[in-house]
Amino acid sequence: MLKIRQVLFACLVFTQQASASASASASIHSFAPPGLCTLADIWPQGPGHTLVPQRPDAELTKILAQIDPARIKATITKLVSFGTRHTLSNQTDPMRGVGAARDWIAAELRSYATASNGRMTVSVPSYVQPPATRIPTDTVISNVVATLRGSEESNRAYVISGHYDTRVSDPLNFMDDGPGANDDASGVAVSMELARVFAGHVPKATMMFAAVAGEEQGLFGSNFLATSLKEAGVDVQGMLNNDIVGSSTGDDGTRAPFDIRMFAQGIPTTETAAETAKRVSIGGENDSPARQLGRFVAEVSQNPSTKMGVHIMYRPDRYLRGGDHLSFLKQGFPAVRFTEPHENFAHQHQDIRVVDGVQFGDLIEFVDFDFVARVARVNGAALWSLAQAPGTPKDVVIANKVLGNNSTLSWTADTGADGGYEIVWRATDEPFWSHVIPVGQTNTATVQMSKDNVHFGVRSVGKNGFRSPATFPFPG
Ligand SMILES: *[C@@H]1O[C@H](CO)[C@@H](O)[C@H](O)[C@H]1NC(C)=O
Ligand SMILES: *[C@@H]1O[C@H](CO)[C@@H](O)[C@H](O)[C@H]1NC(C)=O
Ligand SMILES: *[C@@H]1O[C@H](CO)[C@@H](O)[C@H](O)[C@H]1NC(C)=O
Ligand SMILES: [Zn+2]
Repeated sequence: MLKIRQVLFACLVFTQQASASASASASIHSFAPPGLCTLADIWPQGPGHTLVPQRPDAELTKILAQIDPARIKATITKLVSFGTRHTLSNQTDPMRGVGAARDWIAAELRSYATASNGRMTVSVPSYVQPPATRIPTDTVISNVVATLRGSEESNRAYVISGHYDTRVSDPLNFMDDGPGANDDASGVAVSMELARVFAGHVPKATMMFAAVAGEEQGLFGSNFLATSLKEAGVDVQGMLNNDIVGSSTGDDGTRAPFDIRMFAQGIPTTETAAETAKRVSIGGENDSPARQLGRFVAEVSQNPSTKMGVHIMYRPDRYLRGGDHLSFLKQGFPAVRFTEPHENFAHQHQDIRVVDGVQFGDLIEFVDFDFVARVARVNGAALWSLAQAPGTPKDVVIANKVLGNNSTLSWTADTGADGGYEIVWRATDEPFWSHVIPVGQTNTATVQMSKDNVHFGVRSVGKNGFRSPATFPFPG
């Protein structure tokens, strides 16, 4: 109590001094505020209760414990053994090239599917990519996808993906060895290991474990997967891309073995100019579907089962880089990208060579298999929590007819939300939802709090206790 009073006092002092100095046209730097004020300081109590992050249930805890660094090492070792997996490399040679890798991944996933009582099926959808900047002649692009059918009657699905193609310095060089141990055998190993540990389980929504090709030539495999899912009417409510998740050590030796970056796009590029204008007018630029997915993943995946810090990066990807999540974002699907915190660029997209005593090349000796296993646990926690929860609420609107202190939200009720709904809110400068207001089985609720001061969201609740990501409301 005392602490809150002190903070409140500090904020008031700040405000008074600020207005006094403003009228005297003095610099605001002429005094030092005792502390920066947040809405929570001046408004510590709001409706509802403090949000407590979801923890893994017993089944998920067991699943995550089965993720095995030795299996991940074996997978990456095998992928590296194909010499190169360049998209333009040999597609029929059984030992070397992208075709051998494709066939091995499919066979391996089929062996995992035997534990699924027919619930997991493996397919190798492919198409012919006509010539493009990095595709000199017609080239077959093949994805490998294991689909674990959910128990609920819906077309809702979650996708996890890594790319199995590789490259060296010249993006068109498909002859030289390109081990791609980190970029992106590590991400493929995450997809495959999760397919293995989830195969014997029955999620509510469908999970898809993908290894795509053509990433280095122009995101071709993921674009094919995302457009196929869109055309088939699959309701992809989350896509997790793992690309370069193999090393916890940067080129200066900095280590971050218990941290991972998660890139999440702000304003969706699929929105029309009018939609974006509306979003910006209400301060919704930090509340895109990708950011809600990111918040959800960060909430459910930072716990003793993963031992990882998950850091949301407020941008779609790193500078000059892109990845397969962009193909999903382009189709309007929420998607995020995981990448190690400290990259070593000498180990990416490089011919294998030694220069001035520095080893270049994406070699397996630089991969930390325990780190990849922890990243897989982050993904596994997210995937299971997404698939066990009801779907993300749709058509969420906030009433915007009259000025007032109340905020009324409405949405389309879904039978899948058998535990009802919750309104979540946070101060506009907070990164995560901080408060929860349970509102039960309804499609509308009024909160005694002004929408001018906070951001609201609506999330679905399952009878099983799992919560969906939140949906940000737009003025109806
Ligand atoms: C691919 O490998 C097979 C088997 O080694 C060989 O017969 C074929 O000529 C190769 N194809 C190309 C395009 O190099
Ligand atoms: C809003 O709340 C303030 C402070 O509690 C009160 O003074 C004001 O009358 C309220 N306005 C409306 C429209 O209810
Ligand atoms: C605000 O909401 C409360 C509770 O739903 C209600 O009692 C009150 O009349 C509302 N006030 C306005 C101005 O709508
Ligand atoms: Zn990559």
